[in-house]
Amino acid sequence: MEAGSGICYSKPVKNLVLVGFMGSGKTDAGKVAAKRLGMAFVDMDAIIEVRLGQTISQVFEAKGEPFFREQERALVRELSAKMGQVIATGGGIVLDAGNLREFERTGVVVCCWVDARVAYERTKHARHRPLLEADADRLARVESLLRVREPLYKAIPLRVDTSAMSVEQQANELIRIYKQQAGG
Ligand code: S3P
Repeated sequence: MEAGSGICYSKPVKNLVLVGFMGSGKTDAGKVAAKRLGMAFVDMDAIIEVRLGQTISQVFEAKGEPFFREQERALVRELSAKMGQVIATGGGIVLDAGNLREFERTGVVVCCWVDARVAYERTKHARHRPLLEADADRLARVESLLRVREPLYKAIPLRVDTSAMSVEQQANELIRIYKQQAGG
């Protein structure tokens, strides 16, 4: 507060950016954390779906994965320019290192790690993830995708192993890390 001016210069609130494999609880725990932190919750896949008027599966089918990744890239730039959001990213956001660099400028980036078996259990009934539909052996598909991405997820310094956590526990941990990092 500037003495006597009546103008309050509050520090911009950093974003909390949740990165992690499909089934790592980014959306569920992110919503809970956002509510408790009094921040806006933003789901990247949901925004892309609304803007394109298609589900993610339809986008992959009609326009292909490279097109989807371009949409993600553009949205990362847009969201990084704003503050005060909890952002649930899509699991493949780590495939372009530029995405993480962009997010780090204005946010606290936290990786939600999940073991392959748990990721499989949490996603086995869902039908909205095109990358998991490609193979009849879904567990093998989760394992092979995660094996490729593991070094990318594990290169993120702030990490929560969500494998044995409830949504509540994960949200608590995310809030703790965020407050520590953002200095709130
Ligand atoms: C993807 C994860 C999905 C979605 C798309 C691709 C990925 O998001 O962006 O199906 O490459 O891991 P969730 O992680 O929210 O399921």
